[in-house]
Amino acid sequence: MLLPQTHNHAQPNFLNTADLKQEEISALIDLALDIKQGKVKKSLAGKTLATLFFNPSVRTRVSFATAMFKLGGQAIEISSNNVWSFEYQDDVVMDGSTIEHVKEVAPVLSRYCDGLAIRCSELVTKSAQSASSGSWEESKQDIVLNSFAKYATVPVINMESNVYHPCQGLGDALTMKEHFGETRGKKYVHTWAYHPKALPMATTNSQMLAACDLGMDVVIAHPQGWELDPEILAVAQKRAIQSGGSFAISNDQDEAIEGADIVCAKSWGALPYYGNWEAEKEARSNLQHWIVNEEKMARTRDGKFMHCLPVRRNVEVTQGVLDSTSSIVIDEAENRMWAQMALLATLLA
Ligand code: CP
Repeated sequence: MLLPQTHNHAQPNFLNTADLKQEEISALIDLALDIKQGKVKKSLAGKTLATLFFNPSVRTRVSFATAMFKLGGQAIEISSNNVWSFEYQDDVVMDGSTIEHVKEVAPVLSRYCDGLAIRCSELVTKSAQSASSGSWEESKQDIVLNSFAKYATVPVINMESNVYHPCQGLGDALTMKEHFGETRGKKYVHTWAYHPKALPMATTNSQMLAACDLGMDVVIAHPQGWELDPEILAVAQKRAIQSGGSFAISNDQDEAIEGADIVCAKSWGALPYYGNWEAEKEARSNLQHWIVNEEKMARTRDGKFMHCLPVRRNVEVTQGVLDSTSSIVIDEAENRMWAQMALLATLLA
């Protein structure tokens, strides 16, 4: 299988699952299942992946390192604390805080490594490493990720940007495929959850796309004002229909959860408040009832609970749900590693 090329470069990248055809995603999930079940052995012996983290991480960091190790290669972690601060703008006089341009960094790392993986979500950490400030339209350009993709000469993997977290989407797809076998006809509810902080919507975008690509009957539930980006919603709806599923949006969490096979919770910041999170805090202060609890799970069709983690117990979801047999969040986290092994074996081989 050949993954798509982006930015008119020769190398294939993995920046967003929606860059892939649905049959390519199915092939990756099938390969991940085969690797997990020991039916297929893949080798990346002698290969190196540079993982650049501009934000904190537990799962992504460890699952990429273990995935490379299990394949016989290695991951070299580069954290924003121990590298130069990078510049991303063109035609800039670099007499400020940035020390090295991505035009040098990306090709230099490409000479040492067989792939580059980038985590850079500006909403989480505003730092000198951030390439933009302010509007969603600007953040949506994912300047850090796309600059690495533009100037690298080896495959680039998105480990979560402002807009997408495709490895989470792939891991979730593997989890649901493993759990149900046939995912068509299953109801997938992705619900906004209360959280004390505004969070990026990248994970939600990719989780939603994953369920759409599996042909599930997808319902996105959120309070009014927390609408997702309309362009991304349009792509999700199109892909849901293409794969034999359906797509709906609800502002009523109880109603949405009725008859669900999967309830996946995630918080995200409201786009009208993008960059003005103090004002959003006030707007969401009366939304603490957007929590997944036992009563809501009782409305499902023996449904399973999913969350990308990290999760705030008794804020986004009750401990009763998390500690019950309905919760498959640990399987979901584990499957990040198997899904990424399939991805790495395909991209870097
Ligand atoms: N779900 C996820 O990406 O977790 P980390 O932020 O810990 O990597």
